[in-house]
Amino acid sequence: MANLSLKSVSKLFDTQEAVKDLTLDVPDGQFIVLVGPSGCGKSTTLRMIAGLESITSGEIWIGDNLVNAILPKDRDVAMVFQNYALYPHMTVFENIAFPLKIRKLPNSEIQARVKEVAQLLELESYLNKKPKVLSGGQRQRVALGRAIVRKPQVFLFDEPLSNLDAQLRTQLRGELIKLHQKLKTTSVYVTHDQAEAMTLGEKIVVLKDGLTQQIGTPAEIYNFPSNIFVAGFIGTPKMNLIKGNISPSSEGLFFHNDFKLALPQEKMSSLKNYPQIIIGLRPQAISLSTTNSNRNWMVKGNLELIENLGGEKYFYLNLKGEKLVAQVKEDKNYPLDSSLEIFLDLKQAYYFDPATGKCII
Ligand SMILES: Nc1ncnc2c1ncn2[C@@H]1O[C@H](COP(=O)(O)OP(=O)(O)O)[C@@H](O)[C@H]1O
Ligand SMILES: [Mg+2]
Repeated sequence: MANLSLKSVSKLFDTQEAVKDLTLDVPDGQFIVLVGPSGCGKSTTLRMIAGLESITSGEIWIGDNLVNAILPKDRDVAMVFQNYALYPHMTVFENIAFPLKIRKLPNSEIQARVKEVAQLLELESYLNKKPKVLSGGQRQRVALGRAIVRKPQVFLFDEPLSNLDAQLRTQLRGELIKLHQKLKTTSVYVTHDQAEAMTLGEKIVVLKDGLTQQIGTPAEIYNFPSNIFVAGFIGTPKMNLIKGNISPSSEGLFFHNDFKLALPQEKMSSLKNYPQIIIGLRPQAISLSTTNSNRNWMVKGNLELIENLGGEKYFYLNLKGEKLVAQVKEDKNYPLDSSLEIFLDLKQAYYFDPATGKCII
């Protein structure tokens, strides 16, 4: 077990900067998730930690060792890939035992360790089978087993659940959490799936175009997104974003789109110097208006689509050209195309600067 530290790490492929100045501290035993859209530099970061890719600049430390110049096999990290990367001609036992065999461990120890791992991953009855007769979930468990059996200092996971169907993904996610609680090995997990990041990560790093957008706990990232990108990327359905102009008057500060909203008193001092802002509202902050809603924050919207997921219901609304999605609690039926009074809870809103994308308050 060890802490892992990246100091100003960058990676240049020809002229393209895949990872830009990434600084990251993963304390011993932490499970950290790197999340971002495809192409944002997640795999490159993992491959640099593993030593499969050289570093253009910066330092990578595992424990007390600067590993920049250390070969992958000597870094004591184990990586799990999306495509399992099992040896098809070997049995499950041989696949799991492989890293121990090449390290020439005594046979008795190999037997004992593989047995222990197989028990942990519920693979005991498959040890003599070949990967091709296993399901996707079982194959990924074997790949996990092969990583675990080495007892490495750091685990690296590159989208290990992406090839599985939704149900299995959720199940294996739970198993990964339990496994980490048992093993407490420092882990870096990469995914493009924000829900996976939120459920697995003790800490999350949001990446875009090779640049770190925010580092924080799942709650910090969700509740205090540092910019528009993070706000839109984390949470589903996405946060609604509405751009408009700001105008002061004797009655307070107003937001103008094709509709007009009085901004909350307590936000005024932070917002008054911006000519334009973007208001961010999660679907939970938009509702159908009730008699006790604040009249200042009510607008008329057209109901375009209802998505009923059983437990939750989402209304897709058109507010004079602005498309919004609201999470609706009521059971009443509304026909499509009806005009509804919508309540925008500006107390729960986020306010962004359109010029920089940064969250103002
Ligand atoms: N070997 C390579 N040669 C050139 N460009 C690469 C190479 N590997 C990755 N890239 C580029 O670097 C960027 C980041 O890639 P990658 O780390 O694979 O992203 P992610 O895993 O987040 O989808 C992408 O634009 C990709 O095209
Ligand atoms: Mg990748």
